[in-house]
Amino acid sequence: MANRFVLNETSYHGKGAIQEIANEVKGRGFEKCFVCSDPDLLKFGVTKKVTDVLEKAGISYEIYSEIKPNPTIENVQTGVKAFKKSGADCIVAIGGGSSMDTAKAIGIIIANPEFADVRSLEGVAPTKNKCVPIIAVPTTAGTAAEVTINYVITDAEKNRKMVCVDVHDIPVVAVVDPDMMSSMPKGLTAATGMDALTHAIEGYITKGAWAMSDMFHLKAIEIIAKSLRGAVANTPEGREGMALGQYVAGMGFSNVGLGIVHSMAHPLGALYDTPHGVANAILLPTVMEYNAEATGEKYRDIAKAMGVEGVDKMTLAEARKAAVAAVKQLSEDVGIPKDLKNIVKEKDLDFLAQSAMDDACRPGNPKDPTKEDIIALYKSLL
Ligand SMILES: NC(=O)c1ccc[n+]([C@@H]2O[C@H](COP(=O)([O-])OP(=O)(O)OC[C@H]3O[C@@H](n4cnc5c(N)ncnc54)[C@H](O)[C@@H]3O)[C@@H](O)[C@H]2O)c1
Ligand SMILES: [Fe+2]
Repeated sequence: MANRFVLNETSYHGKGAIQEIANEVKGRGFEKCFVCSDPDLLKFGVTKKVTDVLEKAGISYEIYSEIKPNPTIENVQTGVKAFKKSGADCIVAIGGGSSMDTAKAIGIIIANPEFADVRSLEGVAPTKNKCVPIIAVPTTAGTAAEVTINYVITDAEKNRKMVCVDVHDIPVVAVVDPDMMSSMPKGLTAATGMDALTHAIEGYITKGAWAMSDMFHLKAIEIIAKSLRGAVANTPEGREGMALGQYVAGMGFSNVGLGIVHSMAHPLGALYDTPHGVANAILLPTVMEYNAEATGEKYRDIAKAMGVEGVDKMTLAEARKAAVAAVKQLSEDVGIPKDLKNIVKEKDLDFLAQSAMDDACRPGNPKDPTKEDIIALYKSLL
């Protein structure tokens, strides 16, 4: 089978990139924007940085902000109604993964109304039409939802996060401006940055990885390892590096898949509302140890990209240890908790493991886990 690659039509990178949004809206002939953003971003004036650009250019817009972190089916369905009422012809998504994912689901349902129940979109959805054109503006440096063909919606009734994969949802334009991320507090910067590192590492070792995705993932690991500590300290170089590094990781993993760090993190988001990046960051080193035997020489490359010295002279076992140690060190340096003691309740382990087994990211894991393996992995962090 041929390898497929899907990326944005156009993307802008660097400080001040949001100024380009007005030209893109006008150049594409759009008349009204449906702005998807969450309530905190409105409150902190982050959304306003972009709506000011629209206003200055005389572009009309309407804001939709009923979006919670780990967005729900209800957030999407209310958004579909609001979009229909608005008379808009494009979506400007401003926010982290939650705002961008909600925007994608709304855009898909508007163009494919037979999926209005949302649940039928889980997995690889057989939609026929491209979603409403989306201009995506990330405000976190993590999910890379602006360049991925995925979105994640929580089914609150079933306590499940649904991973939806659909080429029709790729934003036509991504605007990756580090100034949109500079207001992130330390903890959010660390968590979302570790999400990006998880994408790069899981994408590099996933079953479907190949030369082109490897190129993106190795570069992303290198940029993120160099930039995340600085971003947490709010340096301009750190912010710029993370804006780019997370995007480059997204260019890769969106096209090849992930693994069980994500499968095990999703149920924690669904059941306990654990921030996605925190869940990933805690699980990553432990799952890396579990997967090591199925990764050939790849951990040697990861260790090198993480900046470990002398990797070429190490035995394979030493190089694998060094890769895991470098990830652990970065996680500790940016203040991520070491274990799941304050998050996971023992009585939920069976439910969590079954959800992880059913998750769309699980088949991509380099090693095929049993449900018992997953339970043991969670338990090792309690
Ligand atoms: N589409 C994908 O490919 C993909 C990949 C990974 C994760 N996800 C999903 O994305 C969601 C997580 O997204 P996220 O980690 O970007 O966080 P988020 O969008 O859930 O935002 C978390 C919180 O941070 C705040 N925030 C965001 N940017 C800010 C800024 N610049 N300044 C101050 N506060 C800010 C938000 O208001 C919100 O309260 C999860 O649902 C996850 O499953 C999607
Ligand atoms: Fe993620």
